Amino acid sequence: MLTRLRATAADSLAARLMAERLAEPDEDGSEALATSSFEDPSTGSWHVDAYYASEPDSTAILTRIGPWLEAATPPRLEQVPDENWVAISQAALPPVSAGHFLVHGGHDRHIVGRRRFAIEIDAGEAFGTAHHATTQGCLAAVDRLARRYHPRTILDLGCGSGLLAISAARVWPAARVVASDIDPVAVEVAAGNVALNGARGRIRLVTAPGLDHPRLRDLQPYDLVLANILAGPLIRLAPRLSRAVRPGGIAVLSGILGEQAREVLATYAMAGFRLVEKRVPHNWATLVLVRA
Ligand SMILES: C[S@@+](CC[C@H](N)C(=O)[O-])C[C@H]1O[C@@H](n2cnc3c(N)ncnc32)[C@H](O)[C@@H]1O
Repeated sequence: MLTRLRATAADSLAARLMAERLAEPDEDGSEALATSSFEDPSTGSWHVDAYYASEPDSTAILTRIGPWLEAATPPRLEQVPDENWVAISQAALPPVSAGHFLVHGGHDRHIVGRRRFAIEIDAGEAFGTAHHATTQGCLAAVDRLARRYHPRTILDLGCGSGLLAISAARVWPAARVVASDIDPVAVEVAAGNVALNGARGRIRLVTAPGLDHPRLRDLQPYDLVLANILAGPLIRLAPRLSRAVRPGGIAVLSGILGEQAREVLATYAMAGFRLVEKRVPHNWATLVLVRA
């Protein structure tokens, strides 16, 4: 059996700091094996879960996390079955909300129900469960764009788990969506997630580096490209992306550290893009650009 500590934090920042503190080794030997902070979508409260191989000293734990605790709800320790590690790390991944989207694992299907903007993604071999600020930034950008923009052709470049393509297919049901990744394993994972989320037949999947594939050229020029890859590949791809996005079309770029944003922006300005929105949560920039 493992021991799980569940504590309620004063707010999201307190939850993050508490989770980080619990993950650090301590003199009392009560280092957590895994920690996560998450918002309960039904109450808006922030919680932290930490898993231990044996029961930790509760007094020492209270001293460590005291500054960030929400006063009215005392933390609790409970025994949880010692399942395999994949199951534990997935269980520790709580639902994430970004804009109207709620991204959750299969273990939370029962609490989410059949909401229009719920997307089920289990942690697996491809990046993209929405727990990273870059994915959240792109989902939130899709959510805001959906109110005023109606793309007919969409590319999710570097699709990982396929989450961004699935979100786009959900909010723009009439659009043709292509999702591509350089990594064939990611494309396989994305295919499973597309089917799981009822989008088979809506999203075309392609394994390709950058835009080098006839099936990616078929739909060009795109009205919308979502590309959450790193600053380096984004900079190298700028001239190709410029040809792949129609004039007036939009590119949402992420995977860019705050300090890299200026160079990416300069490169895309040279390639004919204009910045319309920049958000930098947790030092990860998401840029919304319009092709002039
Ligand atoms: C940070 S993950 C993003 C996954 C998902 N789109 C998300 O937002 O969570 C970046 C993905 O881009 C892929 N990738 C990196 N360079 C690429 C390239 N040049 N062409 C296509 N895919 C690429 C990686 O294999 C990886 O799956």
